[in-house]
Amino acid sequence: MTKPLNIGMIGYGFMGRAHSNAYNRVSDFFDTEYTPVLKAACARNAENVQAFADNWGYESIETDWRKLIARDDIDAIDICVPNNLHKEMAIACAEAGKIILCEKPLAMNSEEGEEMCQAVEKAGVANIVWYNYRRIPAVTLAKQLIEEGKLGRIFHYRANFLQDWTISDDLPQGGAALWRLDAAAAGSGVTGDLLAHCIDTAIWLNGGVSNVSAMTETFIKERKHNLTGKVEPVTIDDACAFLCHFSNGSLGLFESTRYARGHKALYTLEINGEHGSLKWDLHDLHRLDYFDHRDEGRVRGWRSIHVTDGDHPYMDKWWVPGLQIGYEHSFVHQVADFLESLSTGKPAGPTFRDALETQRICDAVLASAESGQWTDVG
Ligand SMILES: NC(=O)c1ccc[n+]([C@@H]2O[C@H](COP(=O)([O-])OP(=O)(O)OC[C@H]3O[C@@H](n4cnc5c(N)ncnc54)[C@H](O)[C@@H]3O)[C@@H](O)[C@H]2O)c1
Repeated sequence: MTKPLNIGMIGYGFMGRAHSNAYNRVSDFFDTEYTPVLKAACARNAENVQAFADNWGYESIETDWRKLIARDDIDAIDICVPNNLHKEMAIACAEAGKIILCEKPLAMNSEEGEEMCQAVEKAGVANIVWYNYRRIPAVTLAKQLIEEGKLGRIFHYRANFLQDWTISDDLPQGGAALWRLDAAAAGSGVTGDLLAHCIDTAIWLNGGVSNVSAMTETFIKERKHNLTGKVEPVTIDDACAFLCHFSNGSLGLFESTRYARGHKALYTLEINGEHGSLKWDLHDLHRLDYFDHRDEGRVRGWRSIHVTDGDHPYMDKWWVPGLQIGYEHSFVHQVADFLESLSTGKPAGPTFRDALETQRICDAVLASAESGQWTDVG
């Protein structure tokens, strides 16, 4: 018999759906002591949240997140709302003794993030942040190969996250669908939204970052604001590029924009070491490219590993060797690892504290872009 873990979901948008799917699927494929039960979904609009609850199988709804958190029949709260709401909700959850799964970025800035860390640590509640790309099997395989020392000393790390959906100057900012274009709701633009993912993966694979030198640009300076109806200054970074030093002595190069025509979600990373290199591309997420200089010279070259075999991370749980999985499965894996951590008592990363490190790097990137100076990560 498995034990129920009663979930209260806040938000029914993109991530509300991705996570609900993961809770529903996880116990079909992974043997875990706990099984998620979709107890209640919460958002402000009762009709919309009821439709969401019916679609995904939630037993009940709430329209006030404080009432959801106060419910005794909820064990864990999943925070899937815009970034400016994370702190207040997470601290209230911690004070109520709830387990917390919070979307990324952890907070609007590292001061808020530190308060959230202190709240979960004081309450002693299990917590995790949804940096889900760690759990794409090809990325997890990269982590294994690096930890085994296959690349040797690391010299370079580079990552891009490129999209093209904000190029039109007719696109408004703010409000329900476009809160990402409003720094008051998002905290920042591509830095917190896209580069935060690249940074989380980078520090997981290659260790901490000591300092950064960044530039940002806001290409379209004014847009109509959906909440006020007025044309207002755009407050987010549309594009960001930064250089950094990792603590292990390697150099990093990161770039993100929503103005790269033709790219929808092109997250790529590459890491170069003394013996070999690894490359990964979200548009082709089941492949990991690997070059090993120690191979015999005549057959040496880049190999493209189809990460679908039973001895690849997570893949023994799915279908048969050779058949692919996709984006949604990274969330299933995160839930599976989190449930496992509740059984073992060994935290599954990234915890709030781990995600605070990403937040600190984002803060340093934005400060460096502002000052034009190399900036230490606080
Ligand atoms: N891990 C990832 O890859 C990933 C991808 C997308 C978004 N995110 C993060 O997930 C979070 C949500 O993003 P999204 O794309 O799902 O947004 P979304 O706009 O699709 O959905 C946001 C939801 O929040 C709800 N909401 C807003 N204010 C609320 C309130 N006061 N009380 C209750 N509900 C409220 C809205 O009704 C909506 O259902 C953000 O922090 C974002 O950065 C992470």
